[in-house]
Amino acid sequence: MDVIISKIHQLTPSIRAFELVPVNGASLPQFEAGSHIDVHLKNGLTRQYSLSNCCSEKHRYVIGVLHDENSRGGSRCLHQQYSEGDRLSIGTPRNLFEIHPETQKAVLFAGGIGITPILSMAYRLKHQQIPLELHYFVRSHEMIAFYGNLTEHFPDQVHFHIQDQAETQCEIAQVLEEVSANRHLYVCGPTGFMQFVMNSAQQAGWSDEQLHQEHFVAQQADHSQNEAFTIEVLGSDRKIEVPPHQTATQALLEHGFNVPISCEQGICGTCITRVVSGTPDHRDLFMTDEEHALNNQFTPCCSRAKSKKLVLELT
Ligand code: FES
Repeated sequence: MDVIISKIHQLTPSIRAFELVPVNGASLPQFEAGSHIDVHLKNGLTRQYSLSNCCSEKHRYVIGVLHDENSRGGSRCLHQQYSEGDRLSIGTPRNLFEIHPETQKAVLFAGGIGITPILSMAYRLKHQQIPLELHYFVRSHEMIAFYGNLTEHFPDQVHFHIQDQAETQCEIAQVLEEVSANRHLYVCGPTGFMQFVMNSAQQAGWSDEQLHQEHFVAQQADHSQNEAFTIEVLGSDRKIEVPPHQTATQALLEHGFNVPISCEQGICGTCITRVVSGTPDHRDLFMTDEEHALNNQFTPCCSRAKSKKLVLELT
């Protein structure tokens, strides 16, 4: 669907919030806290951005976008080529980072731009009168995004942690010391930050069911051990070789087969494809361990094969 960028706010030197409103003034599809949208950019890329506003709002979506030095072209395009009043093509909100229904107390951890879904969750939890504490970790005061929203709506719940890495790690461990069954932990931020929080929580005795994290960017996978494999497409007599340096989707597209893709890094689930036979080498972050174990579907944008051959059913 198309939306209009009604306002752009410079939140920090490198983060902008984009307010998106419907073209015709109607309401936008409802979303849940923790959701993200696909944004289809004019340079041909599609990127996922979390919604940061309260999910009770129907008149706008708000996304926070970090102009990343290592941008693969998405955030740079949004920052440099879009202005207020421009149209933007987006997808319907999807949620891979839901608030667990049994949450009776929530501990929210945000690192840097990871505040975007965390803020939306905080609004929702407050609305549901579920006690929360929000810990926001940044390197300096000027890097705090949504400062006004946080201090206005969560003056007693927000804790800003502005310091170096050693202090940060110590404070994370302290916050996680209190473990109880109805407390749920939600984490979003850079990969190293999320890993440290998750490891600290596990060491402190939190169970896996209590831990929830959002992935903005998948970790860089090690491709050095990649092996070639063959794909057969059900109903076709073509055999497609996937060399070590290529993804299954690239090979399929090259041979004229269409596989829908979006994130191309195993986060969004858009490319999920049915596996009729063979054993996938799952490398995505989207499916659960149980789904992986079934081996009846995989994400060809990043996953490969443990067997020499995969037979796929393309829709
Ligand atoms: S395109 Fe997103 S998981 Fe494959």
